[in-house]
Amino acid sequence: MSTGAGATQGGSRERDKDKTDSSTSLPAAGVSGAAASGSLGSTGSLGGSGGLGGVGSQPAAPAQIIRFKTGLRNTVWDCMRDRGWKETDSELDWDFFWADVHWVHETFDHVYLHEHQRINHFRNHYELTRKDLLVKNVKRMIKTIEKEYGKQESLKFEFISTSYVLPQEHALFQEEFKRNSGGVWIMKPVGKAQGKGIFLINKMSQIANWKKDPRLKGARGTAGGGEDGDGPEAYIVQRYIENPYLIGGKKFDIRAYVLVTSYYPLVVYIHRNGFCRFSNSQFSMQAKDISNLYIHATNVAIQKTSPNYDGDKGCKWLLRNLKMFLISKHGAAAVDELFTEMEALVVRSLMSVQKVMINDKHCFELYGYDILIDSNLKPWLLEVNASPSLTAETQFDYDLKYAMLNDCFDVVDLERRYEKDKRLRTRVGGFDLVYNDGPVKHERTSNYSSYLASQSMQK
Ligand SMILES: Nc1ncnc2c1ncn2[C@@H]1O[C@H](COP(=O)(O)OP(=O)(O)O)[C@@H](O)[C@H]1O
Ligand SMILES: [Mg+2]
Repeated sequence: MSTGAGATQGGSRERDKDKTDSSTSLPAAGVSGAAASGSLGSTGSLGGSGGLGGVGSQPAAPAQIIRFKTGLRNTVWDCMRDRGWKETDSELDWDFFWADVHWVHETFDHVYLHEHQRINHFRNHYELTRKDLLVKNVKRMIKTIEKEYGKQESLKFEFISTSYVLPQEHALFQEEFKRNSGGVWIMKPVGKAQGKGIFLINKMSQIANWKKDPRLKGARGTAGGGEDGDGPEAYIVQRYIENPYLIGGKKFDIRAYVLVTSYYPLVVYIHRNGFCRFSNSQFSMQAKDISNLYIHATNVAIQKTSPNYDGDKGCKWLLRNLKMFLISKHGAAAVDELFTEMEALVVRSLMSVQKVMINDKHCFELYGYDILIDSNLKPWLLEVNASPSLTAETQFDYDLKYAMLNDCFDVVDLERRYEKDKRLRTRVGGFDLVYNDGPVKHERTSNYSSYLASQSMQK
């Protein structure tokens, strides 16, 4: 994977022998054995997500009982309880706070944290997780890279479909719309989630009066920060990807879990067990279907209300099943390139906000990446979520999320079982360290260059 890292960080960054530019890795089979049948709803077994790989040292006994605080009552809470941690409702006397983003916006700046305290968000995470700011930061990165390293290098950062922030960039959008004689665009409120406030347009007139449009009511993003606020209405309008990769005629997108433990240096882990979220309806680009979100939006919150939704099966596939399916259709090399490119996209998005993010040793963040693959096997970043849904829809969902969270807490290591080991572990359960101030070369056991969606080790 060539992330442009060397380019953006200059020659001063030291590379130790753990790190390399893996664009030199040989493409080969990411998954061995027969390809999956690919039938929708066959999610396959999760397998164990645990097992600490790629590390030398043994964990020390936990130093203390961790006191945690959270408002959640879902997998997160279960996982913390099962680790033997004790819940507290104290305002500030906790070791770990799984805070919601509102607390972060309203309170974080006014509290002092002790050395050992940890929290699950960075202060200004919205630079990455608000749709308009993500677009702004990536656009700025593209300009910087182009200026310093040329067009070719900057093209690597073109992983977000053309987007404009409204109302500010309305004129620019209008120009672009005319230049390309229309096309289909998707309107998304900058700070909402779960498909709320989203709609598609194919005529300029559909948003000419957009401030008065009743569909825009209640979709408010603040100019300066929060995810919900009282600022001016803010949307992004984004070129709709009209050729999504379809399976069984249905659209899907990918949810990948990405853990950042530091922005300076940038340290990124990606979990192997992501999943795909399918639409329950046949995909169609016909004009008459343009307002049908069951077809166009793959959010579970929307699909759950579809008349075709099957509550027992849900609408998810393990990423591993997708990988096997794609290998059966396109061969291992093309699929390995796709998954390596997805990893690269994640790292590049984080590099794009690294300079503006307030780094803080108390913070880590578990992001939910929404990625769409098009029919040419190109991955596109749709958005990044600071609070990915960790509430389970089905037993399958519960097991996946619980195991991923457990791995996340193993990485963060509040129990300080690994604190004496100064080297970062390259593999913790299903999490692979993919970037540590530079691309990480894994102690590969085979030739493929991305572990994303690979089988996790059994505990
Ligand atoms: N540019 C796009 N092209 C095609 N589909 C899109 C695009 N943007 C979003 N979608 C669809 O809409 C859904 C919701 O969009 P997303 O950006 O994730 O916002 P939300 O915060 O509402 O989840 C996605 O899961 C995807 O199915
Ligand atoms: Mg989303």
